[in-house]
Amino acid sequence: MVKAVIFDAFGTLFNLDNSLLSNIDHPKVNDILDYTRQKQLSYTWLHSLMDTYIPFDEITQTALTDALSKHEAPSSLMESFASLYFKPVIFDDVLASLETLQSRSLQIGILSNGTHKMLQAGIVHNQMSSLIQHVFSADDVSIFKPSPKVYQMVVTALDVNPDEILFVSSNQWDVAGASAFGFQVAWVNRSNGFRESITQSERVTVIQSLLEIAAIV
Ligand code: 2OP
Repeated sequence: MVKAVIFDAFGTLFNLDNSLLSNIDHPKVNDILDYTRQKQLSYTWLHSLMDTYIPFDEITQTALTDALSKHEAPSSLMESFASLYFKPVIFDDVLASLETLQSRSLQIGILSNGTHKMLQAGIVHNQMSSLIQHVFSADDVSIFKPSPKVYQMVVTALDVNPDEILFVSSNQWDVAGASAFGFQVAWVNRSNGFRESITQSERVTVIQSLLEIAAIV
């Protein structure tokens, strides 16, 4: 039985491909964002493997700096790109989904590589404070997902078994990590993307919208 639904943040609740992008005047805007996301992710994994730690807001700034530099874009664009992470916009299905889960008396939380500062900024900016009871940041254990130490924070804090958590993520690497840890997992595949073999597990359910969560808990 699921006692809490815990969401990944960036790409799952917070939409990185949003209308803010259209305000950025540069021909390589999508390439810059793609490169930022690739480097941001690989830097988190590198730091975890190297047994070093740098908070996600700094990793994001470094990835953005590298992406702007690689695409010979002016550093004056930094602030516009950074606002995707520091003033994020939510997907259309988020509020209705969280309200339904709240009406079912399920505990709701976020578990993210983002720092508390980044996550609180997103929660407040999107007026979600009354819908989110728990915020877990990888910053509290100084290592990034998919380290089991990060998923373990939820189990310890809520005093539940891993399979009493439904973890929801759009990121397949995160789906793989969370299901290997023992969570029930919903992979939200909004864009009908290819399913990687790493996510194949009986613990993983595929959904296309967060509105489908209520039917599987
Ligand atoms: C997270 O919010 C980066 O999506 C990743 O943890």
